[in-house]
Amino acid sequence: MRLLCAPLQGYTDRSFRLAHSATLGGIDDYTAPFVRLERERLRPRDLHDLTALGEDQRRLTTPQALARTPHEIRLIAAQLADLGFDRLDLNLGCPFPKVVQQGYGAALPNEPDTLRELLLAATDCLPPHALSLKLRLPDLPQHLEAIAELCRQLPLRHVTLHPRTAAQQYAGTPDHHAFARFRQLLGPQTPLVYNGDVTAPHSPYPDCDALMLGRGLLANPLLPRLLRGETASDDQFRQLLLTFHQRLADLLQEQPQPLPRLKTLWDYLLPHERNRHRRHLLKATTLPDYLAAATELLAHAQQPPHSPTPETPT
Ligand SMILES: Cc1cc2nc3c(=O)[nH]c(=O)nc-3n(C[C@H](O)[C@H](O)[C@H](O)COP(=O)(O)O)c2cc1C
Repeated sequence: MRLLCAPLQGYTDRSFRLAHSATLGGIDDYTAPFVRLERERLRPRDLHDLTALGEDQRRLTTPQALARTPHEIRLIAAQLADLGFDRLDLNLGCPFPKVVQQGYGAALPNEPDTLRELLLAATDCLPPHALSLKLRLPDLPQHLEAIAELCRQLPLRHVTLHPRTAAQQYAGTPDHHAFARFRQLLGPQTPLVYNGDVTAPHSPYPDCDALMLGRGLLANPLLPRLLRGETASDDQFRQLLLTFHQRLADLLQEQPQPLPRLKTLWDYLLPHERNRHRRHLLKATTLPDYLAAATELLAHAQQPPHSPTPETPT
């Protein structure tokens, strides 16, 4: 089964992707957090996330676009092609009210005509099977039928469905029945990826062609290996996590503000480890203090129980 890393703005940035793929691996494709245009150009921080990646990293990374019009998607595809990317994922699921009010992200599955125009333009300006979609459930079930019909007509790389509505944001149970219905509507031609609360190797996920891991991967970065049937002793688990964390810290130290970014990691990482080391690392005001507390925590960490997806901070 193919395993994909979900885009998580603020978390799965280039340092995370580099550190994870170099030390832990098990992911076939990292979909990068979405990029969008500002005055017709990709925003500088989006460019930094995707510029000057080595060949291996580029092969493992799929950029994602937040776009609404044919003009926007053509501009984004052209600017990403200049960076060496020949494939693109389209964000049809961002539920943030400001994004949805402007007609982007999760607004689009509710507007089949606008979506059709956008997808036709996107497939037109990319090679066949270079476009993938990442969507949420539309508000109306009949729109799911329209989306499936549209997808069937296009040469898509794959479609990822996160079966929650925009109103649910990241809470509530993913709707496995709606996912199974979409699979039927989509038919066998287009690979379908399941996304939503993949946190444990043995949970019953709906029938699909690949799994996309989000917060479950941030909580336990070894999850892809577990899903592939590997096991790790507690010592191996700690050693691997320490190596991953050290690589991430090394990469982030090349950036201006490594400390806040490193602390962000703990919004999700090992949520069951609530101890004094965690408090220390979150309160640290210097990098050496942070690293000492994080190393202590990781050197004594237990493997996570197969717990539910950690809550998303508000
Ligand atoms: C903090 C955060 C940032 C996210 N950023 C993106 C994004 O840039 N693009 C996107 O398509 N989805 C984004 N998502 C949604 C995730 O990719 C994923 O669909 C969602 O978290 C459900 O999967 P999970 O239950 O495995 O976490 C984000 C989610 C969170 C919590």
